[in-house]
Amino acid sequence: MSRSINFYAGPSVLPVEVLEELRDQMVDFKDSGLSLVETSHRSGIYDDVHNRAIELMKELLGVPEGYSILFLGGGATMQFSMIPLNLMGDGGSCDFTVTGTWAKKACDDAKKVGKVNVLFDGAEGGYSTLPDPASLKPSAGSSYLHLTSNETIGGIQWKNWPDTGDVPLVCDMSSDILSRPVPVDKFGLIYAGAQKNLGPSGLAIVIIRDDLLERSPASLTAYLNYGTHAKANSLYNTPPVFPIWAMQLVLERVKSLGGMDYVVAHNRKKADLLYTAIEGSGGFYRSPVDPEVRSDMNVVFRLPTEDLEASFIKEATGKGMMGMKGHRSVGGCRASIYNSMTIEGVEALTVFMKEFAGRNS
Ligand SMILES: Cc1ncc(COP(=O)(O)O)c(C=O)c1O
Repeated sequence: MSRSINFYAGPSVLPVEVLEELRDQMVDFKDSGLSLVETSHRSGIYDDVHNRAIELMKELLGVPEGYSILFLGGGATMQFSMIPLNLMGDGGSCDFTVTGTWAKKACDDAKKVGKVNVLFDGAEGGYSTLPDPASLKPSAGSSYLHLTSNETIGGIQWKNWPDTGDVPLVCDMSSDILSRPVPVDKFGLIYAGAQKNLGPSGLAIVIIRDDLLERSPASLTAYLNYGTHAKANSLYNTPPVFPIWAMQLVLERVKSLGGMDYVVAHNRKKADLLYTAIEGSGGFYRSPVDPEVRSDMNVVFRLPTEDLEASFIKEATGKGMMGMKGHRSVGGCRASIYNSMTIEGVEALTVFMKEFAGRNS
């Protein structure tokens, strides 16, 4: 079997060892005589997987006491609704930084629930930079300040965090969770869709400081209320069993490779390789974003013309390098190099980039 090199932005590359383990255990999970995906989520067999995934997440991310980890359906997009519904309260307000397509979507949903103060809007600059975190001051009475740690489409990433005092910092980490250490205690709530660094789609992870669970209005329906899930250890209803199982295996593998130290070194090397290839191309490849905040997960780049971009993507696909077309809203090229992308995969891309530039300059 020959596997392609997967640069898709999400769903995205998973470790082949994890896919093989899922395949091997799919029909008869650990000699139980059943697949895990046809076993009750109230069974001891599933319980072990579920609780181990929570334990590994806590350990790898360094989640302190006083936080709950929730596994929810509906992807990260569901959190665009659940966060304002639970945290803002009737007649409340919150602060937003609108740094790209994803922050804007979250912001637009929050506006349907309460008043939103936009502290930074990068639309005019084409979402190519971020504000200085020290310049962000929460508004009076704000329920929380929302950031998107990594803009998957624009290719920009926060490198430092604002100090928000008593106002909880809320962050969408969908496209860079577990890619670098994060001071979890600085955040009131962190959320992420699983389908980039953690596993298959259909699962969102929410890490919430326990005092914030008190804020949810009693009028909320059961599923939308964080308290429902926190009280039930994310087993109020049937959880997304398959993505949680796959995520547990991904986390197990990260731990066995050396945890966050391994992840940081591995990701640094890949991002450096790719940005060096862009910068060393004599201007053939060009990063359209502020170098101070360029993303280590989604590397966006342009070529001299759109025709060349189309040829580049076509030829790369022909060589088994998949998913490098930039998002339809911005064009260009994008290589997503999440945790499970190998260094060899990025090296193969840089070799191709050099060769392509040589032929087309
Ligand atoms: C930063 C960010 N937030 C939110 C989402 C939406 O996630 P989901 O499709 O799981 O709802 C995405 C999806 O790619 C994303 O990249």
